[in-house]
Amino acid sequence: MVLIKDILSPENEGKTVSIKGFANSVRKGKNNVFIMLRDPTGLIQCVSHTGESPFELTDTITRESSMGVEGTIKQDQRAEGGYELHIGSIKIFGLAEPFPLKKGHNKVYLFDNRHLWFRSVRVTSIMKIRSTVFESIHSFFKENGFYEIQSPSFVGGSVEGGSTLFNVDYFGKKAYLTQSWQLYAEAMVDSLWKIYTVAPSFRAEKSRTWRHLTEFWHAEAEVAFADNNDIMDIEEKLIKYVVKTVLEKNQRELEILKRDVKILENVVNKPFLRMRYEEIIDLANKNGLKLEYGADLGADEERVITSKLETPVFSMNYPIKLKPFYHKPDPSDPSHVLCNDLLAPEGYGEIVGAGQRVDDKETLIKRIEEEGLDVKDYEWYIDLRRYGAIPHSGFGLGVDRLVMWICKLPHIAYAVPFPRTMRRLKP
Ligand code: 4AD
Ligand code: MG
Repeated sequence: MVLIKDILSPENEGKTVSIKGFANSVRKGKNNVFIMLRDPTGLIQCVSHTGESPFELTDTITRESSMGVEGTIKQDQRAEGGYELHIGSIKIFGLAEPFPLKKGHNKVYLFDNRHLWFRSVRVTSIMKIRSTVFESIHSFFKENGFYEIQSPSFVGGSVEGGSTLFNVDYFGKKAYLTQSWQLYAEAMVDSLWKIYTVAPSFRAEKSRTWRHLTEFWHAEAEVAFADNNDIMDIEEKLIKYVVKTVLEKNQRELEILKRDVKILENVVNKPFLRMRYEEIIDLANKNGLKLEYGADLGADEERVITSKLETPVFSMNYPIKLKPFYHKPDPSDPSHVLCNDLLAPEGYGEIVGAGQRVDDKETLIKRIEEEGLDVKDYEWYIDLRRYGAIPHSGFGLGVDRLVMWICKLPHIAYAVPFPRTMRRLKP
């Protein structure tokens, strides 16, 4: 199939080509019809003049109709994109009814019509970047000796706290949708040592922020014999790799989105900052917040903390009370855990949650009890400390959040084909 991007070059002047696409816009004059034809790779102005054989049919075309067009290419400075296709013949696949989307609709209306809005050049550009992000996550792990392996989506207990669990009726028993593959990863890492997965995770998020979905794509990794510093090194390499690939492959899309790429170039070229929790609290307070030591950091706090940063920052070693039971207490200061959240700059905040895992049985049981969880539900997980425990660490990257930040979008929903939030289940 011939694509628009392949025909927009001077050596095609005068050639006859056959392309397919949708009418991005239609302009009708007294003596001619201009159709801006769109395919996944670009736009080209197609023109038909009165008196020519395809004119009558071309004149019936409406916005968002789909068609095949055969015609000759000529360079024309007046045409958007610099080229024009003079229509020789046209075949309509589907004549569109009056299209319900125009400029200036509000966000709710656009998401109600996501199935149609999806075709827009802007949404298409975001989805192409999303495709590169997923592809490069897989290549990074494959190039670095990780095995790809899967965990179940139906689970019997929580990893990330009970308040965001989705309940499922499982043949009369209570089951949940997975929040993270982590507990299963810790079992699988004993045999495979370097593993990853890319899969949906589910959170019954009642907080309606710009960065929370109920279903999100989670790229998670677990590494045997890695400590908190080692896992940060891997996270940093992964993010640099993904951003570099997007900069190489998606120049055109970043331009369409008017993304200033300076910060993305910094991400590739400069080392990420590493700050302990207390330094992060200081930074927040220097930027006008009034946080007490021990405060949890949410979307609003992280927005302030990262808004002036030019590279991502690892926020490390949180007070133990702020993190789930599986985080390893720092042996030199057991009131804090060996963890790291990777915060994206420009106000975006957390994109990765990570850390070193508890590797002794007694501490683990104590931490499970302290969180008010039932030790019985975690027996198989505790087994992993009974039979040859090893030091290990891992992380979870929110892929939709990464796409949102790379594209500099105002809300995570824009980064997802058909987003799921507390208020949206359709389309
Ligand atoms: O920080 P979280 O909760 O960490 C975990 O789930 C760990 N068990 C991961 C691991 O170590 N294997 O989630 C990890 C990341 C967050 O940093 C965020 O980017 C994303 O997942 N995330 C969400 N993204 C969109 N909507 C939500 N409701 C999200 N919750 C978490
Ligand atoms: Mg987190």
